[in-house]
Amino acid sequence: MAEEPSKQAAEPPAVANLSLAETANAGIVGDKTKAVEQHIDPWSVSAAVDEQGNTLSFDYEAISKKWSTSLIDQALLDRFERLTGHKPHRWLRRGLFFSHREFNLILDRYEKGQPFFLYTGRGPSSGSMHIGHTIPFAFTKWLQDVFDVPLVIMLTDDEKFLFKENITVEDAKKFADENAMDIISMGFDQKKTFIYSDFRYIGGHFYENSVEFSKLLPFNQVRGAFGFDNSTNTGRIDFPSKQCAAAFATSYPHIWGDDPDGNRQKKTAAIPCLIPCAIDQDPYFRLLRDNSHRMKNPSPKAALIHSKFLTALQGPGGKMSASDPTSAIFMSDSKKDVQKKINKFAFSGGRATMEEHRQFGGNPDVDVPFQYLTYFLDDDAEIERLRTAYKSGEMLTGEMKQYCIKVMQDYVEDFQTKRKQVTPQILKEYMTPRRLQWGGNPNPVKPAAPIQAQSGKKSSKSKTSSTPATPAAQSESQSEAASQPASLPSGGNLPAVIAASTNAPVTSETTMAELVQRLDLDSVGSLAAQPVLPVLASAQPNHSLAAAQDGGTK
Ligand code: TRP
Repeated sequence: MAEEPSKQAAEPPAVANLSLAETANAGIVGDKTKAVEQHIDPWSVSAAVDEQGNTLSFDYEAISKKWSTSLIDQALLDRFERLTGHKPHRWLRRGLFFSHREFNLILDRYEKGQPFFLYTGRGPSSGSMHIGHTIPFAFTKWLQDVFDVPLVIMLTDDEKFLFKENITVEDAKKFADENAMDIISMGFDQKKTFIYSDFRYIGGHFYENSVEFSKLLPFNQVRGAFGFDNSTNTGRIDFPSKQCAAAFATSYPHIWGDDPDGNRQKKTAAIPCLIPCAIDQDPYFRLLRDNSHRMKNPSPKAALIHSKFLTALQGPGGKMSASDPTSAIFMSDSKKDVQKKINKFAFSGGRATMEEHRQFGGNPDVDVPFQYLTYFLDDDAEIERLRTAYKSGEMLTGEMKQYCIKVMQDYVEDFQTKRKQVTPQILKEYMTPRRLQWGGNPNPVKPAAPIQAQSGKKSSKSKTSSTPATPAAQSESQSEAASQPASLPSGGNLPAVIAASTNAPVTSETTMAELVQRLDLDSVGSLAAQPVLPVLASAQPNHSLAAAQDGGTK
């Protein structure tokens, strides 16, 4: 995708110096003259229209270039796979998530076992979500499963109240609850996930962050990012500081075990986040990245991973919209609705007649049923088979639609089954501020510590079991590990030290005794018979707050 693989795009100039609203969409659609250029901001998105009035596809490379984001390239995906042991999600492989800011720094942290968290959100504008809305959440859930990290989900009922006409505070809160139940149905692990409505949650440390951040944001920066003017209501002008403050770890003291009644903690502020979002949310986070280091307790720049928009049923250049029921498949649609919508509204890349189609073949690139299959079918070989068959004319439009209907019906039905199980009690559990529990990278790379050949202090607190620790125990053991130089023999740290100093491969079969033999050391007592890998995992704490500071702002 990107021409220059691992090259990072330079950070754009501070937003104060340019008006995104004025410049973001200017002249980015290439040389061919088009009557209307594409427009992308957090509240409205429209594709370019050519001189003949045809709607064109979104030009994502152009927006990435204009906003100086980095395109996701194969080198980044390869590194991801190497570090996590997971094949990149099909939405990464197929470019639906196409752009990022400093995702590589999050991979660095993962590699070293340093803490970070995930942050995403949704503006609850209606009761039911459509398939397009589920994409960032399904992707975020996958990231959470892979990285095993805490996740916060912000429901911006306040934003929707401020930016949408004809909606009351009460409506927005109700939509937030309903959307939260939809989001929970995506399968997030409750122990690692905190979902909140702005109206209900913002206060305490979050409010302190939001007010402190707003003091750093002059109106011209906000206006530059969003195109506000003198008649914009001031609620809208102040809102961005909330969507930004949500990216600070200190906005959630309970997650990390900090005292919500005390002051925000510097070490917590140093924990960065990764924000999966659609590209239209980027202007918010440019404000964040431009200013987060200026907070009293500075935060590292948040990393971002951006998606394209899901194509509307009507075809390329359209975006699924909650206010146009014919543009989207809703998660509350019946099987019949799904069938009708795809048959009736889905834009086809097929030919006018069957004879022509058989002779010349169809165009899978604009065929909406095929596009939807590329979103939801994981099997790369099957996707290629369909593409080839359609292109050659062997597969007909009706057949592609039938295939798509079946896959979409299954997706929606599976969702609805899970949605029925989400009770008000479950909703409450996810939305209650509480301590979260997670594991992080089970096998982080530690810089090789020098081996001291004399017997070191025995640590009474060494953890040699692989029982998942509570966050409290985790941070204790972590600060302990971070502050102790490795020494031999020293209980919990021993396997890490040996592994770091021997090149022989360590497998799940390798025992401590074997490793010790390789190093020609004395017996290490009760550890000797244990398989090494679980010990290694538990001996290398991975989300220490002390480590956060190391890797954070210093
Ligand atoms: N503004 C977003 C919307 O209207 C909601 C949101 C808040 C969000 N924080 C986010 C989306 C972080 C993605 C990532 O949908």
